[in-house]
Amino acid sequence: MTGFRELVFSGVQPTGNLHLGNYLGAITRFVALQERYDCIYCVVDLHAITAELHQPDLPSQTREVTAAFLASGIDPRRNIVFNQSQVSGHAELAWIFNCVARIGWMNRMTQFKDKAGKDRENASLGLLAYPSLMAADILLYRATHVPVGEDQKQHLELTRDIAQKFNNDFQPAIAARADSVPAGDEAGSRQFFPLTEPLIGGPAARVMSLRDGSKKMSKSDPSDFSRINLTDDRDAIAGKIRKAKTDPEPLPSEEAGLAGRPEADNLVGIYAALAGTDKAAVLGDFGGAQFSAFKAALVDLAVDVLGPIGAEMNRLQADPGHIDAVLADGAGRARAIADETMRAVKDIVGMVRS
Ligand code: TYM
Repeated sequence: MTGFRELVFSGVQPTGNLHLGNYLGAITRFVALQERYDCIYCVVDLHAITAELHQPDLPSQTREVTAAFLASGIDPRRNIVFNQSQVSGHAELAWIFNCVARIGWMNRMTQFKDKAGKDRENASLGLLAYPSLMAADILLYRATHVPVGEDQKQHLELTRDIAQKFNNDFQPAIAARADSVPAGDEAGSRQFFPLTEPLIGGPAARVMSLRDGSKKMSKSDPSDFSRINLTDDRDAIAGKIRKAKTDPEPLPSEEAGLAGRPEADNLVGIYAALAGTDKAAVLGDFGGAQFSAFKAALVDLAVDVLGPIGAEMNRLQADPGHIDAVLADGAGRARAIADETMRAVKDIVGMVRS
């Protein structure tokens, strides 16, 4: 991508039950990216109220996600860590994007269909507009890269559609600005918002439920045995992995042998991501092994990796004042960037500012 300063943005909802899918699909990758990029990591509390408005535990859940960021190794001095509702630009830009995006685009979102279920008419308007707020999160900072799990792919495609339509609809105003960037197309047009690149990948881009290899691991699954929570202790982790669904065959020696074996594929992917390697290497070590032996090794690895993180999360959460200070500092720095973008957006759209 040319012209735009490279910047990473991503968000996690404070809806409780932070699990291994969030950690491996997103948070560990946030940690790695801070070595190469300036990064902004946001606890998206405005998103958290779209499915359920009244959440008495919202403050502690917001602090829990922040603690998970810090305990996993995100440095809040080098990066920006904050919660969304402290920077009003998110809601403001989302409103403008509500007027850019089409209802049809929102109706096509599989996550909306899943979350709204059969009674779509009764879903909140916020749930329908969720992807528009997500686009605002990213584009408020004109972020170029967004690390997420695979379930967010469609939302990021929509973010690009919104950026593109805004850039097209306001082309004359954008082309006249010094802070716009050449689009690199034949028409010689310019962009105000980048077409953000999703960063989706690794062996755990889609961690599945431990009870059902066809369903993704999720905060909302009624069975706690379907997921490993970041704050689970050794006994809980061991019990859940031991009970995890498998098939009767031993592990294959090569990746091709995982085809049609979703539960085996999932556990091997989890092992690979926790060990910082890939599935082929794991099968190199465990090909031919029975699940009982593999699960015992997976328990040890999971406890080694998650144990210290859970302990550090608990330590940090015992001092909510410290977490709130981190969020306040991050919000101040985020606001400075966001305010500049909002001034430009208002000028582009034609809103008088005094
Ligand atoms: P949320 O809170 O549902 O999930 C946070 C991150 O965890 C990833 N994830 C998974 N990855 C692998 N396997 C799984 N089973 C799994 N479950 C969740 C998600 O893909 C996500 O990366 N819409 C976002 C929050 C958001 C956001 C943003 C993200 C709001 N604004 C702007 C990026 C940029 C979400 O639902 O996250």
